[in-house]
Amino acid sequence: MAVVQHLQHVVESQQFSRQLLDELMTRASEMEREPHRAAGRLQGRVMAALFYEPSTRTRLSFEAAMLRLGGRTMGTDNAHEFSSAAKGESLEDTIRIVNGYADVIVLRHDEEGAARRAAAVSQVPVINAGDGRGQHPTQGLLDVYTIRAELGRIDGVKIAMVGDLANGRTVRSLAYLLSKYRDVQVWFVAPPQVAMRQDIKDHLDQRGVRWSETEDLESVLATVDVVYMTRIQKERFSDLAGYEALKGVYRVDAQTLRKLQANSIVMHPLPRLDEIATEVDTDPRAAYFRQARNGLFIRMALLDMVLS
Ligand code: CP
Repeated sequence: MAVVQHLQHVVESQQFSRQLLDELMTRASEMEREPHRAAGRLQGRVMAALFYEPSTRTRLSFEAAMLRLGGRTMGTDNAHEFSSAAKGESLEDTIRIVNGYADVIVLRHDEEGAARRAAAVSQVPVINAGDGRGQHPTQGLLDVYTIRAELGRIDGVKIAMVGDLANGRTVRSLAYLLSKYRDVQVWFVAPPQVAMRQDIKDHLDQRGVRWSETEDLESVLATVDVVYMTRIQKERFSDLAGYEALKGVYRVDAQTLRKLQANSIVMHPLPRLDEIATEVDTDPRAAYFRQARNGLFIRMALLDMVLS
């Protein structure tokens, strides 16, 4: 496997060139196709998972990835309470300390910019596993991998990003990554209270990516290749009334599927609440569980890249 660019920290999607994306996708495909060939590659290496916010997929798929590569893992969930952050230790000091114990740090934090702060003081690679409303680059990468696997291409893809776009770090990371591909078209489907933030729109303009905004999901269903649903994120609202006003605003169900093209797909970073009805799960276009599984291969490939 040719390494085209050395990857140290993984903080934000902007740091991935098209060439690096191609290399990562190829490596993840190899991990998926021939997992036994990668077994033992990271033997003797240790991953620390520092999670200040809850997680199922990111935490467990990173652990599974490290274990499948022959490495070992340690870490803390609910780190605000169960690490010395509870005694007032700064994130920077925690990272400096963990540098002495681990070869790579996977960090999820509730503050936007936390991964960048951690990387600034870390000698070992820091991988951003989600920083507040900021980014979730490894989710964006597995989303790109999923689109490629499901549709056979990323160039030319038409995607609707739906729901809580202002607070959604996954759609932010995905938008940055998609801007590296040709002829991508994006529809931001959201109520004005949680519309996509201006920095992403400016970035897409700079990259010449066509995008538009609507509140009407139905109006784009027949056009798009990907419906990317997101949860209205209760934990990011300062007032409950603001959340209550928006929850349930978009829902994909059997009726929605009838308007979708036969070869389009429905994606979701998960967890879902009521924005995708469970009746959708058995439709072949429901890609979200396959998408979650793809996180394992992308994270195996990423750990292999940063530790090789
Ligand atoms: N998609 C995602 O980040 O899920 P978790 O919060 O369960 O890790």
